[in-house]
Amino acid sequence: MSSCLLLLFLGLASRGSSGLDIPPHDAVARVARFVANQCTWASMATISTHHPVQGQPFSNAFSISDGPPGHGTGVPYLYLTRMEVSVQDLQVNPQASLSLSLAQTDYCTQQGFDPQSPLCAHIILSGSVLEVNDTAEVEFAQKWLFWRHPEMKDWPSDHGWFFAKFNITKVWVLDYFGGVKTITPDEYFKATPYRKHLHSV
Ligand SMILES: *[C@@H]1O[C@H](CO)[C@@H](O)[C@H](O)[C@H]1NC(C)=O
Ligand SMILES: *[C@@H]1O[C@H](CO)[C@@H](O)[C@H](O)[C@H]1NC(C)=O
Repeated sequence: MSSCLLLLFLGLASRGSSGLDIPPHDAVARVARFVANQCTWASMATISTHHPVQGQPFSNAFSISDGPPGHGTGVPYLYLTRMEVSVQDLQVNPQASLSLSLAQTDYCTQQGFDPQSPLCAHIILSGSVLEVNDTAEVEFAQKWLFWRHPEMKDWPSDHGWFFAKFNITKVWVLDYFGGVKTITPDEYFKATPYRKHLHSV
């Protein structure tokens, strides 16, 4: 009985964290959207404004959500405060880079893929961080950020938290051998990461 449960668990764990299959590696835009939806946090590099590394890249962890699992929008939303060191960089220069990797799910460990292997699919987003002003979009960002990160609703109310999004200008994808592939925001947003498909060969 318990070994059956274990096998069932291992079977599910070899897929993405929500039990869904990763798209085939040549469907690059779909893989990118899959990674964006599976990841709950990203490393964000800003151009530092802080002594003694002014002008140098500065990478820091941020919680993200692009919407409900299985139905992400592809837009990474963030919950930020101007008291935060990287957000202070963004006030001066909103340009940033987000790195998202399936290494943070159980997929790569279960498959035996090292985080630096392209088989452990990861993406780098270029663009900038914009405050979200539209009421409906603020509600969407809040709903799905707080759903994935329940403790956010208890973060100190005097810190001036606001919702932001990563405005993507270029997507870099490492999901197979042969070097990095790039896709445009158009290709990225048109892709349907979770469309049912037969196992590719
Ligand atoms: C929200 O408003 C700020 C300040 O006017 C602006 O800089 C930012 O670009 C706006 N965000 C979006 C997503 O348009
Ligand atoms: C947001 O990204 C689009 C490309 O998707 C780009 O054309 C636009 O200039 C960007 N907006 C800002 C404010 O960076």
